Amino acid sequence: MQTADSLADKEKMLANYVPVFVMLPLDVVSVSNVLEKQEELRRQLRQLRAADVDGVMVDVWWGIVEAEGAKCYDWSAYRELFHMVEEEGLKLQAIMSFHQCGGNIGDAVDIPLPRWVRDVGESDPDIYYTNRSGTRNREYLTIGVDDQPIFDGRTAVELYSDFMKSFRANMADFLDAGIITDIEVGLGPAGELRYPSYPEAQGWVFPGIGEFQCYDKYMKEEFKEDATMAGHPEWDLPDDAGEYNDKPTKTKFFAAKNGTYLTEKGSFFLTWYSNKLLMHGDQILDAANEAFLGCKLKLAAKVSGIHWWYKDDNHAAELTAGYYNLNDRDGYRTIARMLARHDAILNFTCVEMRNSEQIRRAKSGPEELVRQCSMEGGDRSGMRKCS
Ligand SMILES: *[C@@H]1O[C@H](CO)[C@@H](O)[C@H](O)[C@H]1NC(C)=O
Ligand SMILES: *[C@@H]1O[C@H](CO)[C@@H](O)[C@H](O)[C@H]1NC(C)=O
Ligand SMILES: *[C@@H]1O[C@H](CO)[C@@H](O)[C@H](O)[C@H]1NC(C)=O
Repeated sequence: MQTADSLADKEKMLANYVPVFVMLPLDVVSVSNVLEKQEELRRQLRQLRAADVDGVMVDVWWGIVEAEGAKCYDWSAYRELFHMVEEEGLKLQAIMSFHQCGGNIGDAVDIPLPRWVRDVGESDPDIYYTNRSGTRNREYLTIGVDDQPIFDGRTAVELYSDFMKSFRANMADFLDAGIITDIEVGLGPAGELRYPSYPEAQGWVFPGIGEFQCYDKYMKEEFKEDATMAGHPEWDLPDDAGEYNDKPTKTKFFAAKNGTYLTEKGSFFLTWYSNKLLMHGDQILDAANEAFLGCKLKLAAKVSGIHWWYKDDNHAAELTAGYYNLNDRDGYRTIARMLARHDAILNFTCVEMRNSEQIRRAKSGPEELVRQCSMEGGDRSGMRKCS
């Protein structure tokens, strides 16, 4: 006999229904790992259910769960939350959030990386993304330490991997019951697969071109090795790409005529920089697939919608973020292929639109960008449009 619920589910499927998930507040579990204001929360969940919402999305913060020490995971508050969500008849999309919450202008909540990770950063600040003049960004660990066993013997990728395995082990009942339908794997700052090239906390404002972020000692060393292997030991990381709020034409790197980005040296660097990002996503999604092997859920990853300077030949802002996309070079196809290899949905985010005058000055192309990426993504249902 079919229950009314499963009949309703069938109808939704037949109608090519796109489920509606609502994001829970960033601090639904407090920074001290407590599920606060439970009655209010339950009331809100009931309202969502009554409004025919399918489920909720929630950030599962690394900085909260593994706060007490390496491999000391405390899932109890998240379990309480998930239990309440289940009781109210909602589903869950869980986000593995390996980045810091807050630190950008207007951020209400502050959840740094775990203390013991930041302790490593006290003696070795090169674990963080670094700009050319040496400013560190503590939002997320640099790709440079992905394979460095400097966290009490573990590499950064192993830290992410162990966290996801612990999640699976401790949430097995919610996974088996189909309550958790999606896992979005955080792959960088703001959870997005990108470099932190446009940090507001460091003074970036729209539509600045941003900066490359590969000047920590680990990435520098890797670049030297890779350039040497390619027969160019004399090549260094770019020193002509300007600063956060420059216009492309103000820099030698992005100049229209003979810009470095068009030279052999420039394209070697851009290939290297964007490949590092791809390999980063590849490794973590590999770990996610291993952790969630046998679970009936969808993996998802977020890619940032960088639309400013999209209509300029140099695509400067996309390049600094790690998307090697030019008019004659599709930088998103490789990303979409990498995600597809891991059966992960591409979830494409667009920062909120500014007024059209700004968009014109910034040679911005949000609609064109969304069109390009929706062709790559294939499955439109996983994509968010700019509005
Ligand atoms: C690096 O970051 C600092 C601090 O925000 C900023 O002042 C500087 O312009 C950035 N870039 C370079 C190349 O110095
Ligand atoms: C660009 O390079 C060409 C050949 O190297 C040179 O003739 C030309 O003057 C350069 N243009 C500019 C604007 O630097
Ligand atoms: C993709 O992102 C949007 C907006 O953040 C969200 O509503 C949607 O649930 C996400 N999908 C997945 C599978 O994470």
